[in-house]
Amino acid sequence: MKQRKTEARGRKRLSLVVITLLASGTALAAQWLDLPEPADDSDYYDNGNPDPAKAALGGQLFFDKILSGNLNISCATCHHALTDTGDGLSLPVGEGGRGLGATRDTGVGADAIHERVPRNAPPIFNLGAREFTTLFHDGRAQVDATQPSGFLSPAGDALPPGLDNILAVQAMFPVTSGTEMAGQPGENPIADAAAAGDLPGVWAQIAERLQNVSGYVEQFVAVYDDVNVAEDITYVHVANAIAAFEALNWRADNSPFDRFLRGEKAALGFEARRGMWIFYSPRKANCASCHSGTFQTNHGFAAIATPQIGPGKGDGFQGRDDFGRERVTSSVGDRYRFRVPTLRNVALTAPYGHSGAFNTLEDMVRHHLDTIGSLESYDAGQAVMPSRSDLDALDVVIMNDEVSVANIAAANELAPVQLTEREFRNLIAFLHALTDPSSIDLRDDIPGELPSGNTLAE
Ligand code: HEC
Ligand code: HEC
Repeated sequence: MKQRKTEARGRKRLSLVVITLLASGTALAAQWLDLPEPADDSDYYDNGNPDPAKAALGGQLFFDKILSGNLNISCATCHHALTDTGDGLSLPVGEGGRGLGATRDTGVGADAIHERVPRNAPPIFNLGAREFTTLFHDGRAQVDATQPSGFLSPAGDALPPGLDNILAVQAMFPVTSGTEMAGQPGENPIADAAAAGDLPGVWAQIAERLQNVSGYVEQFVAVYDDVNVAEDITYVHVANAIAAFEALNWRADNSPFDRFLRGEKAALGFEARRGMWIFYSPRKANCASCHSGTFQTNHGFAAIATPQIGPGKGDGFQGRDDFGRERVTSSVGDRYRFRVPTLRNVALTAPYGHSGAFNTLEDMVRHHLDTIGSLESYDAGQAVMPSRSDLDALDVVIMNDEVSVANIAAANELAPVQLTEREFRNLIAFLHALTDPSSIDLRDDIPGELPSGNTLAE
């Protein structure tokens, strides 16, 4: 009898130890987890201090329709400050549409858009950090020392020298796309050059337009040592200025999680801390097996069975599929692999995935937990984009084709993860803790007026 009592007490003591361990579990776990280093200035181009005059010039160009063939769309239309550097749509409405964000329409008459842009417009946060050496959902723009220009890109050897970084390389391309910014052949000479594959012709014509706007010329002369007169301005100067703007204005590394990593332990609330553990622990969701490092990406590619909606990239069934990384590497093993995106500010940047298939963060994360189930029960009704019957019909060609869906499922590399509802909520709380409060209101990034006199409405 006596002995049993002691045993019971012993058990009690033991469970007390367990309870104490559980209570301090998050703190302990935080030490055991492989957490990333916090970002600092040295992680960014120009040590985090791009020339403000160059960035200001880039900001005006970013918001100016002067870069588009038909003078009707700017970079900002799809990456607006009012929609957290995206457009709030599953798939963008390119040149020919009217308005901004969720209210943008598909345009009217001969100007109306011909097709949707086939991929979701990604946010532009922290891309001035040097570790982002691969851009686009399929990584088709990449730092590559073996290339004459130092970069791998769709322009191949036509990519001019003098580009500051991969962000500048990226800025060379939207203006050469008929659907995004150039327009259709016959509508304007820039569109004609774009349709003919004459990229240098596109860049030269846009530079010429800017050479004729004195308010721009003055700034290019002030910012660039190699620009003394209007004729010295090239599109490379444009791209470098835009890159400086993006890098300076859209750095976002002061989230509660950053503060936590810098030692301010109270910055992360209880739920977010538990969510951090679920995110990083190899025994839990292990999200960090792909979303690793300071910006929650290993910059790699993975196939996670994201539903394919929209007009597609010309691949697979009726050309409506998007083979992702395979398009760049020509390796069948890369089919349906897409770039692992950064998760900074992810709570602000819906819709999600390369095709914008998921409208809420919760649905995107639930998809990760059971990719195949989610793919098979996917309802394209959640996609956010203006309806037009001919475009809507193309949106669902792949998801209505059993063979295509089975192929997407077969390529999946993400094993199912079991989480309780509470663990799921904690994980979402952690993703919210990746939001930099200074990114919530970006109205200050919109230039007051443009030297071209163009309006800022679109
Ligand atoms: C019509 C909408 C549209 C316009 C206009 C547009 N973009 Fe984009 N942007 C996109 C889409 C869609 C992607 C992704 C394309 C892909 O991955 O194939 C993208 C990708 C990017 C990326 C790469 C992001 C990443 O994480 O890989 C950057 C940076 C960017 N755009 C900047 C710009 C700049 C600068 C301009 C103007 C010169 C511009 N965009 C104009 C839709 C647009
Ligand atoms: C096997 C690698 C891998 C793992 C593990 C992984 N992801 Fe992802 N994640 C991806 C890829 C790839 C995408 C982009 C898919 C696409 O574009 O279609 C993505 C996209 C996302 C997005 C959407 C971001 C955006 O901007 O569109 C979120 C949110 C996300 N992941 C969260 C998580 C969470 C939370 C976990 C852990 C439960 C996790 N991921 C585990 C590879 C992974």
